[in-house]
Amino acid sequence: MSSNTLLFSSDLISSEVQAALPKGHTIRPLSSEDYEKGFLNVLSVLTVVGDISKAQFLAHSHEYFTIVIVSPENRIIGAGTIFIERKFIHNNGLVGHIEDIAVDKNQQGKKLGLRIIQALKYIGAKTGCYKVILDCSEENIPFYKKCGFTQKEYEMAWYTADDIPKAKL
Ligand SMILES: CC(C)(COP(=O)(O)OP(=O)(O)OC[C@H]1O[C@@H](n2cnc3c(N)ncnc32)[C@H](O)[C@@H]1OP(=O)(O)O)[C@@H](O)C(=O)NCCC(=O)NCCS
Repeated sequence: MSSNTLLFSSDLISSEVQAALPKGHTIRPLSSEDYEKGFLNVLSVLTVVGDISKAQFLAHSHEYFTIVIVSPENRIIGAGTIFIERKFIHNNGLVGHIEDIAVDKNQQGKKLGLRIIQALKYIGAKTGCYKVILDCSEENIPFYKKCGFTQKEYEMAWYTADDIPKAKL
C-alpha cells in the first residue's frame, strides 16, 4: 500500500497490535482505496451508513485518525476512529474521542475489536492525549471494560428537529 494513499502516517500504528493479529491480517491507517474494499459495509454493523459517494468518502479530514483491519483476502473487516480535541482547560490538553468501532458480523468474537481499541489508545497516547473517552450502549460496557476502560459520567444527547437542514461533508 503506497504511503500517500493513507489518511495519516503508519508510524502511529502500534507494532505490538500488528503482531497480535491473526495470521495474514494487517492493521493500518484508512486508505483512499478502502472505498472499494468494503469500508462502508463494515460500518453498516453500527447504523445506517447512507449513500456515500467516493468524493464524500475522500473528503474526511486529517483531524480524524481512522484505522482499518484488512483480511488476508484484502477486504476491510474492522474499523475505528479516534479524533483529537484540543481543550482550553487542562493547559490546552488533548482528549482523544473514540468513535464508530465496527467489526464485520462474520468476524466478531476474534479479538479484532480489542485490537482496534488497543491501536486507537496507542494513537491517543502517541499524540499526547491525557485521556481517551467514548460513548457506548449498555450492552457494550463489558467489551470496553475488557479493553481497559472504566465507566465515568453519563452520555447526554440532543437531536435537532427533523426540519432543520443537516450539514454533510
Ligand atoms: C462491539 C464490537 C466492536 C466488539 O468487537 P469483537 O471483535 O466482536 O470483540 P472482541 O473479540 O475483540 O472481544 C474482546 C473481549 O470482549 C468481550 N466482548 C465483546 N463484546 C461483548 C459484549 N457485547 N458483551 C460482553 N463481552 C463482550 C469478548 O468476549 C472478549 O472477551 P475475552 O477477552 O474474555 O474473550 C463488535 O462486536 C461490533 O462491531 N459490534 C457491532 C457494532 C458495535 O456495537 N460497535 C460498538 C459501538 S459503541
